[in-house]
Amino acid sequence: MDKLKVMTIFGTRPEAIKMAPLVKELERRPEIESLCCVTAQHRQMLDTVLDIFRIKPQFDLDIMEASQTLSTITSKCLLGLEKVFHEVRPDLVLVHGDTSTTFAGALAAFYQQIAVGHVEAGLRTWDRYSPFPEEMNRSMVGRLAELHFCPTQANRRNLEAEGISKGLFVTGNTVIDALQTTVVKDFSFAEDVLNQLDYERKRVILVTCHRRENYGQPMEDIMSALTHIARVHPEAELVYPVHLSPVVQECAHRHLDGIENVHLIAPLDVEEMHNLMARSYLVMTDSGGLQEEAPALGKPVLVLRKETERPEAVQAGTVKLAGVDYDRITELADQLLDDPTAYGEMAHAVNPYGDGKACRRITDAVLYHFGRSDRPPEPFKS
Ligand code: UD1
Ligand code: UDP
Repeated sequence: MDKLKVMTIFGTRPEAIKMAPLVKELERRPEIESLCCVTAQHRQMLDTVLDIFRIKPQFDLDIMEASQTLSTITSKCLLGLEKVFHEVRPDLVLVHGDTSTTFAGALAAFYQQIAVGHVEAGLRTWDRYSPFPEEMNRSMVGRLAELHFCPTQANRRNLEAEGISKGLFVTGNTVIDALQTTVVKDFSFAEDVLNQLDYERKRVILVTCHRRENYGQPMEDIMSALTHIARVHPEAELVYPVHLSPVVQECAHRHLDGIENVHLIAPLDVEEMHNLMARSYLVMTDSGGLQEEAPALGKPVLVLRKETERPEAVQAGTVKLAGVDYDRITELADQLLDDPTAYGEMAHAVNPYGDGKACRRITDAVLYHFGRSDRPPEPFKS
């Protein structure tokens, strides 16, 4: 029997981190020919992930440009992928999450009547403009896909509520698979400033902020809140690897440059990021991925957004929705820095997002769907 041709398509840092362990799992299976296509919606931030996981894509569309718009990303991906599909016709395309690459990847495959599998399916806020454009991207991919790999049972219920009832598998999130390979006890950072921080005596706060819906006033207010926290808490050291988006770079540097206990650094590679998180006191972020990783490492998270599509860790008590309002962010951060009881209540490890076996389940589900095995995988139970 011919091998099943499975093509993974991804383009940004978070997709790469979460698809890398899946690419490795696909490569391990004798029944599968694994093909990898990157759009390079991100360039540098994608390449560091490819290097670390030693992935050499067969196709690279190299689409990134400075200050790209949603339309340019989507149209360049669609046109580039059309050419790829003329060269090779996979049996299945796997896309991840909710970026423009994800949506364009699913749509381009659909145009060629190629089956689509959606990894990290079923996350919803039910607000079409928040996160923007991600909520609409993932909803549309939900319509286009015929296989849906939901991290949690709640994600599966979200899809069922939209009338999607076939091809659903609860697998856990692949980011937990990735996390199990990166965090080590003795880790030496490339950035000297990170080796020199006193993680025992200081309160290291890991910060990231990049979302499009936070551009403008919300990001201004978040940066003002960070300034307050740094000034009022000399015992804190804020480490902020700044996303390469020119909008984010400008805003972060304008507010935070020159504050002694704020360290604005270049984006970290994923091993450095996970190991820094494991050594931090607190995480403040608008990132999706960090909301999943930090709870697994027992680190409290303040989410710098108005909503979250990841309510599981909020329910488990390790994540709080701080919003984008100066008063609320500073109040919650002050509390976690001043009140050991409040901190203790949030600082415990929980794993609602996965058990490290998501990639195995996804691959087993693919083989089952195509009649290459008799049994579906056991669902992930948190
Ligand atoms: C994208 C995703 C978002 C995801 C984020 C992860 C969309 C619409 N958004 O947003 O869901 O959370 O990635 O980080 O798909 N840049 C570089 N080098 C890089 C990466 C980015 O210079 O390696 C700069 C470029 O100027 C680029 C800009 O950042 O134009 C913005 O990148 P883009 O992919 O459009 O948006 P993100 O905000 O990164
Ligand atoms: N990350 C990283 N280096 C950084 C910032 C983030 O490796 O400097 C990782 C992080 O650990 C997580 C992923 O990138 O796995 C999240 O990506 P991002 O925050 O850019 O996107 P989102 O998850 O919000 O879509």
